[in-house]
Amino acid sequence: MSTREKLLVLLREHTGDFVSGAALTEILGVSRAAVSKHVAALKQQGYAITASSGKGYMFRDTPDLLLPDEIRHGLATRVFGQGIIDYHEMIGSTNDRAKELAAQGSAEGSLVVSEDQNRGRGRKGRTWFSTASHGICISMILRPSMNPSEASRITLMTAVALAETFRDITGLEVTIKWPNDILIRGRKLSGILTEMSMEMDRVDYVVVGVGVNVNNPADHFPAEVRDIATSLAVETGHAVSRVDLLRQFLARFESCYALVEGQGFSQIMKRWKALSDIIGRTVAVDLIGSRIQGRVEDVDETGVLVLRDGDGQVHRVISGDVLLQDL
Ligand code: BTN
Repeated sequence: MSTREKLLVLLREHTGDFVSGAALTEILGVSRAAVSKHVAALKQQGYAITASSGKGYMFRDTPDLLLPDEIRHGLATRVFGQGIIDYHEMIGSTNDRAKELAAQGSAEGSLVVSEDQNRGRGRKGRTWFSTASHGICISMILRPSMNPSEASRITLMTAVALAETFRDITGLEVTIKWPNDILIRGRKLSGILTEMSMEMDRVDYVVVGVGVNVNNPADHFPAEVRDIATSLAVETGHAVSRVDLLRQFLARFESCYALVEGQGFSQIMKRWKALSDIIGRTVAVDLIGSRIQGRVEDVDETGVLVLRDGDGQVHRVISGDVLLQDL
C-alpha cells in the first residue's frame, strides 16, 4: 500500500474525529510536509478532509467518484482491481485504453475506469451513451488460458456476474437478453463489449468492457434510446452507490471466472439459462440483410443461438438482434 493509501485508511478509520499531524507522521514514517502534501492531493480528488492547525486532520466524506482507492477499499478480490486501476474523469473509450495497456503487457486483473466517455463503443459499431459520474464505464484485462474459440464464454460469464449482482442489489427480476444485454422490466440497464487479441491457437488477452446505467435520471437518456434504456436509480427509486456496486460485481466476476477456468463451463451456462428467458420462445433474428423466424431450441456453450424455423430447419445464429414474437 502506498503512503497515500495508508493515510486514507488511517483518516477514514477516524471519520469525524481529528487525528494529529504528529500521530500521522509517526505511524506513516514520513515528514509533516509529506502528510500535508498527501492530504492536499486527496482533497484535490474530492475527499472532504478538514485541516486544523493544532488539531490535525479530520476525514468527513468520500467523493462520489470511482477513485482507485475507493474501489480497493474493502474489495473482496484477489486479482481484479488489486493491481493497476487506470482512472480517468473522461476518456474516449475505456476498451481502447485497456487494449493499449494489455498490448504493453499489463497483467490480468488490471482495470480502466472512467467517469465518462466521449467515444464509448457498443456492439456492432454502435455508440454507448454515458453522462459524467452517473454510471459505470469499466474495462478489465484478462489473460485466460483458453482456446480463442472458447472466448465467447467470457462474455456469457460476464452477463451472469452482472445480472446476479444487479438482482442481489435491487431485489428485482433481472434478465439477460441474448447475446449479452442485461435488462430490467425489458429495458436495457447494462451492456458488454468483449474484444480479444489472439496468436495462432491461444488467446493473448481479452478486454471486457462493461457499461452500467446506475444513477442516470430517465430524461438523461438520448431520445433514440429513452424508451428502451433504464438505470438502477430509475428502477429502484433511489440512488445506488456506484463504488459498492462495482466492488460487488468485481468479486462475483472473479468467482465466475475461477469457475470457468477451473471447472469448465456447465455451471455458468446453467446460471445463464436461468437468467435468460429466450429458450423455448418464438423469435425473429435480424441478420445483415435478412431475418430468420423460429423457436429457440438452445443456446450452446459458445453462445450460439440454436433456432428451428417453421420448416423444421435448424439455424445456428452467432450474432444478431432478437425480437421476441410471442409476448
Ligand atoms: C453494448 O451493449 O452494445 C455494449 C456496450 C458496452 C459499453 C462499455 S462502457 C465501457 C467500455 N468502453 C466502451 O467503449 N464500451 C464498453
